Amino acid sequence: MPIESERAVTQAVLRAVEQSADARHAELVGALVRHLHEFIRETRLSEQELEFAFDFLNRIGQATNDSHNEAALFSDALGASTLVCLLNNGDGAATETASALLGPFWRLNAPELENGASLLRSPTPGTPLLMRGSVQDDTGKPIAGVRVDVWQASPVGLYENQDAEQAEMNLRGVFSTDADGRFHFESVRPAGYPVPMHGPTGDMLRKQNRQSYRPAHLHFLLFRNGFKTLITQVFPGDDPHLDDDPVFGVTANLIGNYTTENAGTEQERCVLDYRFTMQPGEARLPVPPIK
Ligand code: BEZ
Ligand code: FE
Repeated sequence: MPIESERAVTQAVLRAVEQSADARHAELVGALVRHLHEFIRETRLSEQELEFAFDFLNRIGQATNDSHNEAALFSDALGASTLVCLLNNGDGAATETASALLGPFWRLNAPELENGASLLRSPTPGTPLLMRGSVQDDTGKPIAGVRVDVWQASPVGLYENQDAEQAEMNLRGVFSTDADGRFHFESVRPAGYPVPMHGPTGDMLRKQNRQSYRPAHLHFLLFRNGFKTLITQVFPGDDPHLDDDPVFGVTANLIGNYTTENAGTEQERCVLDYRFTMQPGEARLPVPPIK
């Protein structure tokens, strides 16, 4: 039947979507159509603005390659990744460590390292860091055999896949918790860094006069069969960008206790102790955002 009015187009599209045999598909796309059409009505979207949106989406695709995921970055900058993360995971109550967004830089197959090993695979500036972690279940019992995948940016502000000066897999490693649920490693104190600004997400941040620096952090992905995979980040409490993270990843429970030993001497070292709590549930690895 021909579309007779502006209202009728929404109903016609919803009827078409409902033909899907996949109920979840119909639910998701149906809701998308309702909200998208409502957005277009509310803003009275112009034809030029729709053309801009096509170009913006095309540029997200064009900016994406094996070492950069612009779609993930755009979702992160809109707070969508953090919202999905908070809706599907604990909020940092005693029974589950708060989750934080995966971000666009996690890679599969980081090297498996012995407890105590260093994440450094090429010369990397920065204050030495000792990170000591422990993993417990929601009753406080240590969990042995948790694979703890760690990644961080170099203090020059780049992940190794963005930086020809760093060795392959520099500042990435996978540890395994011991019988007491503990792991530890050496690295450098993380520093804040700008999110990639070369694509359409960068254009959006500039248009909104937003600053681009993430607060310093270490990323963790904890995986063990029988437990819900825990993806999170731990931040130092003195970072100037805790309140204006461009990707909204900071929640209060993720401020770590970073202390400094031998401050002002050659032996200066930063120490981070952090306890993670995992819940029973499904162990699932995310799809890596980059190769
Ligand atoms: C990150 O922490 O690796 C990250 C998260 C979102 C956007 C860019 C970087
Ligand atoms: Fe990061």
